[in-house]
Amino acid sequence: MCGIFAYSGEPTNASQLILKGLKNLEYRGYDSWGIAVKKGNSIYLEKHVGKISNAQIKKVVSKVGIGHTRWATHGGITIKNAHPHLDCTQKIAVVHNGIVENFEEIKKRLIKQKHRFVSETDTEVIAHMIEDKIRSGKSIENATYLTFKELRGLNAIIVFYPEKNTFLAIKNSSPLIIGKGKRGFFIASDITAIIEHVNQVYYLKDNELVVIKDKDAYLLEVKKHKKIKIKFTKPQISVDDVGLGKYPNYMIKEINEQPKVIFNIAKNYKQNIKKIANKIRKSYGTYFIGCGTAYFAGLSGTYLFSKIAKRHVNSAVGSEFVYLIDFIKKESLVLALSQSGETIDIISSIKKVKEKGAYVTAITNVAGSTLYRMADDKLLLNAGPEKCVLATKSFTAKIAVLYLIAHTLNGSYDKAVENLIKVTKEIKKIIKNKKIKKIAQKIVNKRHIYILGRGVSYPTALESALKIKEVSYIHAEGFPAGELKHGVIALINKGTPVIVYNPTDETYDDTLSSAHEVKSRGAYVIGIGSKPNKIYDEFIHVDDCKNANIIPNVVIAQLLGYYLAIEKGLDPDKPRNLAKSVTVK
Ligand code: AGP
Repeated sequence: MCGIFAYSGEPTNASQLILKGLKNLEYRGYDSWGIAVKKGNSIYLEKHVGKISNAQIKKVVSKVGIGHTRWATHGGITIKNAHPHLDCTQKIAVVHNGIVENFEEIKKRLIKQKHRFVSETDTEVIAHMIEDKIRSGKSIENATYLTFKELRGLNAIIVFYPEKNTFLAIKNSSPLIIGKGKRGFFIASDITAIIEHVNQVYYLKDNELVVIKDKDAYLLEVKKHKKIKIKFTKPQISVDDVGLGKYPNYMIKEINEQPKVIFNIAKNYKQNIKKIANKIRKSYGTYFIGCGTAYFAGLSGTYLFSKIAKRHVNSAVGSEFVYLIDFIKKESLVLALSQSGETIDIISSIKKVKEKGAYVTAITNVAGSTLYRMADDKLLLNAGPEKCVLATKSFTAKIAVLYLIAHTLNGSYDKAVENLIKVTKEIKKIIKNKKIKKIAQKIVNKRHIYILGRGVSYPTALESALKIKEVSYIHAEGFPAGELKHGVIALINKGTPVIVYNPTDETYDDTLSSAHEVKSRGAYVIGIGSKPNKIYDEFIHVDDCKNANIIPNVVIAQLLGYYLAIEKGLDPDKPRNLAKSVTVK
């Protein structure tokens, strides 16, 4: 997912400042990057393919500039395709996050008007469109606004007009945050990129045009040419939330933060949880939707609600929900789960759900995110920024919330709080369990790992497999234990690692039989639960946490994945090909 960063304020080493801002956006995933800084009366442009970390960048002192990390969609990973993109006059620079769905027809029209293109990107058309409108006499503000309104798709753009020390920003769906600090104004795709510089923030709303000129920043109502004061607020995160602290990387930091996050949810969420429970009681059908890990949280919810609240809820993958939407009524409740609040498959689904008049509740970790602002009701996980591409604390936070909602419906909220506090203690014990690292060292050279479970241990197995595969690149497959003999068992042979989630709940006996079945085909069986058994080659003890076993169990998989990645010398925070938030389809 692309990253955007812009600065306007006191003269400074603008190229370095912007580069550092882009570094804070690296976790979103990218394959090239660039900056544009005002130098004298022209634009100093520097673009690179590859990682920012080992880059040397020219020192350019300036008062204003923009930067961008690109995750390629249209056009290969080349310097020419990296942002910022300029117009023919080289007076306008543009950076962009999103996809201009109608760029081909626009590009054809601009080429006919003799515009010269240097890249294969959709973004470059934006710079030439604005140039065209300015040439026909429009102001930079009007030209930017009219250009944006012509773009089809979900986009965020910053237009840099150094001649007038001006940059303008406008978006629909992809996020842009404006920050105000002692040295000037900042704009970024994510608050973590600017938090060290600002003490006030504003989350730009869809189709609002913000103008930043020298030391002034305002919203502009283009039609009436009316300036509107920006209502800045205090940021909800601090610089400490963003750094690594004593940890070597974000993945292990965020794994360690889980007890604190879950404790906070257990202790401080009663009103919010009660409101969602009441909404579920009154709705005609409740649907949990999410992508990747967030989907597995929703799927876990269907088991928790059935078991604890004796209530049927549906879950669906965000990208599939659009094909299931015909049965949604205005009395339906859609509960959208998304750490970033920017996942395009969720945003697109929710847009359609809202067109049908259904009620949308967002469970997200990012205040001001697109999903947060689209939803009728929202619950913030308050897990702190999750900068590792892998979802860890945001997953267990979602489970804790769904667990409390289910218990609220069952009238056993206080018992649930007590059990979650016990879970936080169990997580601390698991994090200290040295056996997990030893097991990782034993299986690090295996090509396939299988994970099975029944009941809520089935989505646990799915989430565990995702953790392992995305950070260690070892193929891992989670599946319902009952499906073993329907096919998967064909893949089990001597030494195949099979992780068996076997809590002492109603699934215990049948799952133990599955452990015997894989063992008799030579598997290396790793049992996880509160009851050891000689069938296991390895056993990781987890105290019985009743219906909340999924939380400590998944922490084991997070750690296993982490240790596998470290053993393989991989970067656990930024696995290849992955982005922290998938904001383009
Ligand atoms: C999980 O480890 C992955 N990073 C990925 O599956 C992620 O959960 C998914 O892209 C959804 O992200 P979201 O929660 O921000 O919507």
